[in-house]
Amino acid sequence: MRTRLDPSTLRLALAVSTRAPSVHNTQPWRWVSEAGALHLLADRTGLNRAAPEHRDVEISCGAALHHLTTALAALGARVAIRTTPSSSDPDLLATVNAVGPHTPSAADLAMAGAIGTRRTERRPLSPCPVPTDLLDVLRTRAVNHGVQLTPITGDVERHRFAVALDHTVATSPWPAVDEGPAGLLIILSTSADDTAARVHTGQATSAILLTATAMGLASRALSQPLADPHYRAEIRDRLLRGSHAPHLILRIGHGQPVAPHLPRTPRRPWTECYTELSESPSG
Ligand SMILES: Cc1cc2nc3c(=O)[nH]c(=O)nc-3n(C[C@H](O)[C@H](O)[C@H](O)COP(=O)(O)O)c2cc1C
Repeated sequence: MRTRLDPSTLRLALAVSTRAPSVHNTQPWRWVSEAGALHLLADRTGLNRAAPEHRDVEISCGAALHHLTTALAALGARVAIRTTPSSSDPDLLATVNAVGPHTPSAADLAMAGAIGTRRTERRPLSPCPVPTDLLDVLRTRAVNHGVQLTPITGDVERHRFAVALDHTVATSPWPAVDEGPAGLLIILSTSADDTAARVHTGQATSAILLTATAMGLASRALSQPLADPHYRAEIRDRLLRGSHAPHLILRIGHGQPVAPHLPRTPRRPWTECYTELSESPSG
């Protein structure tokens, strides 16, 4: 008989997964429970199928998937994830199955704890240097999901980034902020440029942002500069040597010590993104 997730554990993990970062805070995912398996589907409502936003939808879904599995690990559930999209349903991105019990480690609990405190920090960062081993720690997180992490370093590259950000600000819903020179800037990329690669990028994004939060650092995901096809091509050809597709830029560093704590951004309740095809997780 197939191992099943305890309904109250599943309900709690689904509620926690709503805290995942998502493009324009749209929570563009749906969860469908069917015969003990939990399916993750992209919710592309209102989007043209050819729109570049589909990339960000799939990355956001990957982040929700990682938030869910992080919560499940902390709640003592071990799961297996299949992220190969189905050819018959392009919106089906992943399936999660219970494998058995899991003893949460201190690291599992720290990652889950970071879900509640993580915020997108759009204010300028402090010039205080980041820990010297930060890049290695975050690179390991990315590689665990098959994602390459490349830092944007040097005055020239960081200036190009600032210019690209500036160009996209006029058409962006996000506030024009002074990005400043502080913090670590990293690009997440993969060798393939398909749906599975973007879901993996979302998982890596969540792992990196939660790790940074657990270390007391501020963070921000940025797809805005990559919406400019010229900058996207420039990143791919110059920084990634033409071999990888760039998906997302992350900025990580120390927040300003006297900045007030950011409030939580709102979320739709998990029940609005969940469909039960067999048993109810509300028990
Ligand atoms: C794929 C993706 C792309 C994003 N792009 C940007 C961006 O370009 N600029 C920005 O300020 N925030 C960006 N964000 C952050 C979201 O706006 C943010 O996660 C959402 O508003 C929820 O707020 P929170 O992260 O504070 O919970 C992005 C998030 C994701 C997952």
